[in-house]
Amino acid sequence: RKWSPQQLVDAELGTVSREVYVNQDIFQEELEQIFSRAWLFVGHESMVPNPDDYFVSRMGNDSVILTRDRQGQLQVLLNSCLHRGMRLCRYDQGNNRTFTCPYHGWSYSTDGKLVERAGELVGVPGFKTHYYGELDKKNWGLKSVAKLVNYKGTIWATWDENAPSFEAYLGDMKLYLDFALDHRDGSPGGSEMIGGVQKWRIPCNWKTAAENFNADLYHDISHRSVDVVGIGPGGKGRRDPTPNRVSISFKDLGHGLVGRAPYYEENPYTPIFANYPEVEQYYRKVYEEREKNLAGTMRVLHSVGTVFPNMAVHGRQPRTIAVFHPVSATETEMWRIYLVDKDAPQEVKDAARAYYLRYSGPGGMTESDDMENWCYATESSTGTIARTLHYNYQMGIGHAKPVPGLRGAVTTGEFTEENNRNYYARWAQFMEGRSWDDLMPTYDE
Ligand code: FES
Repeated sequence: RKWSPQQLVDAELGTVSREVYVNQDIFQEELEQIFSRAWLFVGHESMVPNPDDYFVSRMGNDSVILTRDRQGQLQVLLNSCLHRGMRLCRYDQGNNRTFTCPYHGWSYSTDGKLVERAGELVGVPGFKTHYYGELDKKNWGLKSVAKLVNYKGTIWATWDENAPSFEAYLGDMKLYLDFALDHRDGSPGGSEMIGGVQKWRIPCNWKTAAENFNADLYHDISHRSVDVVGIGPGGKGRRDPTPNRVSISFKDLGHGLVGRAPYYEENPYTPIFANYPEVEQYYRKVYEEREKNLAGTMRVLHSVGTVFPNMAVHGRQPRTIAVFHPVSATETEMWRIYLVDKDAPQEVKDAARAYYLRYSGPGGMTESDDMENWCYATESSTGTIARTLHYNYQMGIGHAKPVPGLRGAVTTGEFTEENNRNYYARWAQFMEGRSWDDLMPTYDE
């Protein structure tokens, strides 16, 4: 190895080597040290509403099958046949009682009435004749993730059986994830996906996208043209302004966001939907409910944040999940998933859909701005001389203060690179191969 994580990332000085974004050996190490161990976002339960539904997702550079078995349990299995590695599911989604390999016909079941564990090998053509009944089928089932949780409709998994619980991994970032996933009236859960998943490939490193969502408010100038055109729900700028923003970073865990802590009091919804009376009325009602339901609790207004390593959420309109799947050092597959209250009136869902399409995704005006920056930054960092330099993350060094009421959280106000210094410090900790005992903080309760 020609490098060490601590040489690449100097969180105290606020610099990160450009090799981190372009070097294929470092990328390979990331897959092993980060993506084989961390909790990763796999999908949403509304992708697989019925028994035997499946949806093909990714964990790092591995293809995985998210499926609901006949008993209604969610399963995540490696999408690769144990015989010669053929991809079992070649379509993005569908409904299969058994997963039969198109190459030589091995089949696997998730039906708990037939098999002891999901993904067990149940059918082998020529089992008696060609294999003489001697193949140990129990040992050749599909590889399953070590741990899996359904967190308010979002499905997360890890390959590492020693990983801490998902809630411990999330820490108090949970408050902000909740804000995106809970019903707008503050009751837990109750969100569904609107439309399908938008997926597209970008010639940039996956971290370049992830760090942008980790409170990079500084890049607002990129969206100047969109602000002038006016695509916000209120018909004004890019999005109607969020007052009093603060960047919050969970220093020990690498997560970060833009939000407001600890409380907000005003109704943030009514004015921005002034052009849509039915939508305005809906958000006014759910806001009143939220006031009632969350009285006395920690209430937060959350705009956008990243859960380490590669998942981001917008908690405010538009409520979306973004995922940055690593493909190579300089290629990322980005996903956008849009959320809406399950019981919202059709007008609200229609307004949300229209807004999402003009705002986000490969054809969304705002996303296009970001992608152009990411692509050119990557390309101009791959040159022989360019890659010897470092990126600068020095904004606000030494000015972070703890956030009362949030464990391990710090803030430096609205504009800062503290979030990304902490994100890359976390990256370096994983890349060093630290144990979970070393990686996880302990807090006095
Ligand atoms: Fe799947 Fe041969 S590769 S049965």
